[in-house]
Amino acid sequence: GDTHYYTFNVRMKKVTRLCVTKSIPTVNGQFPGPKLTVREGDRLVVKVHNHINYNVSFHWHGVRQLRNGWADGPSYITQCPIQGGQSYVYDFTVTGQRGTLWWHAHFSWLRVHLYGPLVILPKRTEGYPFPRPYKEVPILFGEWFNADTEAVINQALQTGGGPNVSNAYTFNGLPGPTYNCSAQDTYKLKVKPGRTYMLRLINSALNDELFFGIANHTLTVVEADANYVKPFTVQTLVISPGQTMNVLLTTAPNPASPAYAMAISPYTNTQGTFDNTTAAAVVEYAPAPARSLPLPALPLYNDTGAVTNFSRNFRSLASAQYPARVPLAVDRHLLFTVGLGTDPCPSNQTCQGPNGTKFAASINNNSFFRPRTALLEAHYQRRYAGVLLANFPTAPPHPFNYTGTPPNNTFVQHGTRVVPLKFNTSVELVLQGTSIQGAESHPLHLHGYNFFVVGEGFGNFDPVNDPPKYNLADPVERNTISVPTAGWVAVRFLADNPGVWLMHCHFDVHLSWGLSMAWLVNDGPLPNQKMLPPPSDLPKC
Ligand code: C2O
Repeated sequence: GDTHYYTFNVRMKKVTRLCVTKSIPTVNGQFPGPKLTVREGDRLVVKVHNHINYNVSFHWHGVRQLRNGWADGPSYITQCPIQGGQSYVYDFTVTGQRGTLWWHAHFSWLRVHLYGPLVILPKRTEGYPFPRPYKEVPILFGEWFNADTEAVINQALQTGGGPNVSNAYTFNGLPGPTYNCSAQDTYKLKVKPGRTYMLRLINSALNDELFFGIANHTLTVVEADANYVKPFTVQTLVISPGQTMNVLLTTAPNPASPAYAMAISPYTNTQGTFDNTTAAAVVEYAPAPARSLPLPALPLYNDTGAVTNFSRNFRSLASAQYPARVPLAVDRHLLFTVGLGTDPCPSNQTCQGPNGTKFAASINNNSFFRPRTALLEAHYQRRYAGVLLANFPTAPPHPFNYTGTPPNNTFVQHGTRVVPLKFNTSVELVLQGTSIQGAESHPLHLHGYNFFVVGEGFGNFDPVNDPPKYNLADPVERNTISVPTAGWVAVRFLADNPGVWLMHCHFDVHLSWGLSMAWLVNDGPLPNQKMLPPPSDLPKC
């Protein structure tokens, strides 16, 4: 393959949206950040220079980083953050993957501003398993806060209530005409009649799953998280933070209107506040005023039925060229409860969580505690003492009716806990959503791997009656899956990539409350089954 060199200069820049100007971190002065384009098998060398006063690190979301966790990017997991004035080079090869992925900052909530597309084209000798589109266009969905985001995080962590919500959703950084003082900041997709466009959709919003649709047009989904799927056509789709989706849009041969609106709006079942606005953008055949275009009909914010109907469509292509390599035998069965919990309110604070407690979040009641040094380095040096504990609970602490009335005591335990896995362990993981305080769905993202989604359902997972219904023939392969409120998802993966790999809720508010854990996958016996040595410029904590 080829080698692509990029330089990321992280600098503050003044940006204005909704008539509010604030200074935000950017990559090379761009917001959203630059698009990286490679081919399957190519090497990427991204030299990051941090010129801001915050720590930063970058994650190449969905890239498997085989044996090379050093390039994965989550701060304090695979590397110490890059401090102001420091540099680090991410050097990795994209192996066995093609499609749409993305990159984002992985320190605190910096990804609200630092994100961009990572396009992986098929090898030159391979086409797409569908007719070649006339044009390909990345569309990143995001969120804009008028307030300083550091203040929003601190508010969420310290008051112990829900965070202040965003002021707008965005298309490629632009809120569009439905917001005050924003019509001039409207994203326009210029099209020709009777052609097929491939939209590379990326949900980079911080805390919201989103519905998306285009008035008078249908969308054919062909890829999810850089894996081909059996094509299916919908009016509206839903996409969780962290997920990517390629959809084909065929334009009208004789459009009745010069332009049509596209829109995004939130899907949630939170009992707290959320950004209940709709952002619009334009599919433009010929210039037209964006303000007057009718919006596509999107489902109501709490339409779980629409979400379920949509997500059940996903099937791997499972063709001879792109087989679904789902593990058929399972070495380890694990059940993780995924959800929110609480901490006691410190006596010097007034907390805004349930019953005067402070919100926390957990997996199997463990709220992940950020270590003081990078777990991957500790693992490589086999120096675990004082850094991590290998006793992450592999079953819920006390069985209860996860989806019924929550228990009275929802206090979490805190710790930097990991699940150790032998190389090549085949894992089946049931992610059980709960009804604990403020229950929401949780988009769970796994670093270093894709998993196969073999089953999903509502209520409590039933270990006797649910597994026989699993789809082991063509389950979708993804890196992020939404665990429904009061429901469950079963995934399988083969632990063939040694290293320390984070798994977490891709709502940044839940991540900062501790909805996170890590897998510690040991080296295999062969030389090509061992972690690569760390690069010499790896940042220090
Ligand atoms: Cu896209 Cu750990 O994140």
